Amino acid sequence: MDNVLIPPHLDWVTSPKITPEIIRSWKGVRRFGALTAYDYPMARWLDEAGVPLLLVGDSVGMVVLGHPDTTHVSMNDMEHHIRAAARSQPNGCLGGDLPYRSYETPAEAVLNAQRLVAAGAEFVKAEGGREIETHVRAITAAGIHFCGHLGMLPQHILEEGAYRIKGRTDTEHERLLSDARLLEAAGAFAVVLELVTPPVASEITRAISIPTIGIGSGPDCDGQILVTSDLIGAFPWFTPRFVKPRVQTVAAARQAVVGWLAELSAGQVLAPARHSRD
Ligand code: KIV
Repeated sequence: MDNVLIPPHLDWVTSPKITPEIIRSWKGVRRFGALTAYDYPMARWLDEAGVPLLLVGDSVGMVVLGHPDTTHVSMNDMEHHIRAAARSQPNGCLGGDLPYRSYETPAEAVLNAQRLVAAGAEFVKAEGGREIETHVRAITAAGIHFCGHLGMLPQHILEEGAYRIKGRTDTEHERLLSDARLLEAAGAFAVVLELVTPPVASEITRAISIPTIGIGSGPDCDGQILVTSDLIGAFPWFTPRFVKPRVQTVAAARQAVVGWLAELSAGQVLAPARHSRD
């Protein structure tokens, strides 16, 4: 197998199991893609496609469970979906989101992070910067890998009222930069930057020594993450502006079902109904 050429995006497949430490070591060395996975088949085919970082995101609440936002997702929901995804035993690194209000205190954050790890997560992610610093320190001190999440924070949608781009004002810019440094110092192995203006995302990427993983934050982050359902047209009723679906899965599946139904009704010879009076 010495002379088999491995495509560059798949060369990690020949390496041992991908861990948060390995992702961390890619800073400045390689760019990578990450995608959300919500159940066994999804985690399995994404892993087979060579995705090195899989996230059971609390976006599961919107694109799988039918809620209007992520604030409806519970710890039980997250454990259920993490368990399913973990059964695929991916070679990629599998993490899970701490859901809304599951990390109000450092002690609660550790307890719930431990529950997600017991369900099969290799790291946990939570939203926020300085306001969760002690929580992040407690999680990493407990030996649990942590990924930060800055910028637009979906779990804050009720206070914010809309999904808005962050980093446009000097105050937001400074706050994002110092929060990213603070998460790095608290032991995070990576940080997601969601809907951060591209110049600010680029500056943060240059300023910290852990990988940034952008979503709608321009091309300069170390990694890019998307909600898989957006990328494959599996939730066609809403697609964020920054995503171009590569395939229209639901449209194709719907067409297949329509065709099957049509064949059934065309092939069906309906005998005239017989009633006992006939
Ligand atoms: O919940 C989620 O899917 C996420 C990512 C898209 C970053 O947090």
